[in-house]
Amino acid sequence: MILETKDVLGLEDLSAEEILGVLDVAAHFRAVFDRPVRSVPIMRGRTVVNFFHEPSTRTRISFELAEQRLSADIINFSAATSSFSKGETLRDTAENLAAMKIDMLIVRHSSPGAAQYLAKVLECSVINAGDGAHEHPTQGLLDIMTMRQRLGDMRGKKVTIIGDITHSRVARSNLWGLVKLGAEVTLCGPPTMIPGGLDKLGAKIEYNLEKAVADADVLNVLRIQLERHSSKSFPGNREYHRMYGITEDVVRKLKPDAFVMHPGPMNRDVEIASEVADGPRQVILDQVANGVAVRMALIYLLSGGDPRSLGGSAS
Ligand code: NCD
Repeated sequence: MILETKDVLGLEDLSAEEILGVLDVAAHFRAVFDRPVRSVPIMRGRTVVNFFHEPSTRTRISFELAEQRLSADIINFSAATSSFSKGETLRDTAENLAAMKIDMLIVRHSSPGAAQYLAKVLECSVINAGDGAHEHPTQGLLDIMTMRQRLGDMRGKKVTIIGDITHSRVARSNLWGLVKLGAEVTLCGPPTMIPGGLDKLGAKIEYNLEKAVADADVLNVLRIQLERHSSKSFPGNREYHRMYGITEDVVRKLKPDAFVMHPGPMNRDVEIASEVADGPRQVILDQVANGVAVRMALIYLLSGGDPRSLGGSAS
């Protein structure tokens, strides 16, 4: 068994072996995308519910596509169109879902711990699609998959994560996963956007962008999560771009093979210059493609799929 757990709530809970096992299965599914028929009948007759309580474009579509390619029956509901807008609690929603006998729940929620709560009260598997500023494990896995495709074994590889670390579940999931695989992670951003304590999880903190990127193998650039800011933590977009924006000037000074990632959605010309976002060093659309494969792998494994039956090389 690659995954011993019922749910995937965060990369904090997965071991290095589990992460690598999931990524091997994801590599198998990624290879299937190039075939004329991209779907496999593994989830036929099983129902997956996508419950998005926060706006999402790529994560929601990516999960839906993954479920469709595994031939699952799919139900979508979002906060705006559900009884949440009538004041229903998370607990009532969960109990109703349980009564309807669904097989898996994918949940995005603005409260950290929402996915954990649902996993506790529901018998079915739960995958966290992002809970507040806590974790976003599928984004962490797809980022690590994209890095490993270019860098191989992550031990000793230098990953610099830049931006609004305080409000970023992407940063937390990257950090947990990368440290477990032996990478050296540097977090960089304005002091007001880097919380205390992350050095204890194994990250190096560097407030100076030039120093933080000098010997990096990969930059993972984050969006400023304005919707989560309770007070102003930077003077303005122009000032941020000048101090921490990934511009062509910054990219020119990187190691020759270093590449640039972004989880999306991007604020062009704030955290990343448009020329870099569209330039030869970025791998952003590869991240998107890997996202579908990673989500297929998790759904498959949590549903009891046996990777030995997939056939061919999984890596
Ligand atoms: C991220 C998220 O929602 O946490 N986006 C995503 O899932 N692709 C990052 C972000 O919103 O900036």
